[in-house]
Amino acid sequence: MENNAEDVKNILGLQLPTDPRWVDLAGISMEAILTDHAYCEQKAATTCISIIQWYPEKERLVAELAPVVTEEWGHFRLVLAELKKRGLKLGRQRKDIYVNGLIGFQTKGGHPDLRFLDKLLLMAMIEARSCERFKRLSEGLDDPYMRKFYRRFMESEAGHYTLFIDLAEHYLDKELVRNRWKEWLRFEAELLDSSEIRGDRIH
Ligand SMILES: [Fe+2]
Ligand SMILES: [Fe+2]
Repeated sequence: MENNAEDVKNILGLQLPTDPRWVDLAGISMEAILTDHAYCEQKAATTCISIIQWYPEKERLVAELAPVVTEEWGHFRLVLAELKKRGLKLGRQRKDIYVNGLIGFQTKGGHPDLRFLDKLLLMAMIEARSCERFKRLSEGLDDPYMRKFYRRFMESEAGHYTLFIDLAEHYLDKELVRNRWKEWLRFEAELLDSSEIRGDRIH
């Protein structure tokens, strides 16, 4: 039996392991969880495009995020194909309480560098938690096929959260990045802790 708390700490220091009840709830409706998952991938792709549009002068960022757009859109298509295969439908996007909560934590004013930093750390945060959630699905779902399906996503998102942190450290002071990341981790844990556990959401 794996130690979840230890495992979570290894994912960029996430402070709160996912409640074990979540996987059981997520397994109840594959249509709901796959729909929410599809939109997570769509938002990841869209946000990477936006970041490129906001910071075209940052060459390394553009070069490294361009292929992530393709990858995330590829993920969207994989989820779409899975829905189709099962005779399920892509539902409508629902209000994303988790992501909206995180967006609320972003610096709105202040120095442009700090706003840039928060844009990258917001992405790192969502990637890190998604990675942890996919890991839970890859270990806890009853269907061995779906466990394998989610294992692939877990591995892919693991590469993404480190990319956003690496980019932040490339452009900004490392200590600034580290300190702000700790604040994000604390906020995210409080946000999850105060949120309802829902099986129809990835987060
Ligand atoms: Fe993805
Ligand atoms: Fe990702």
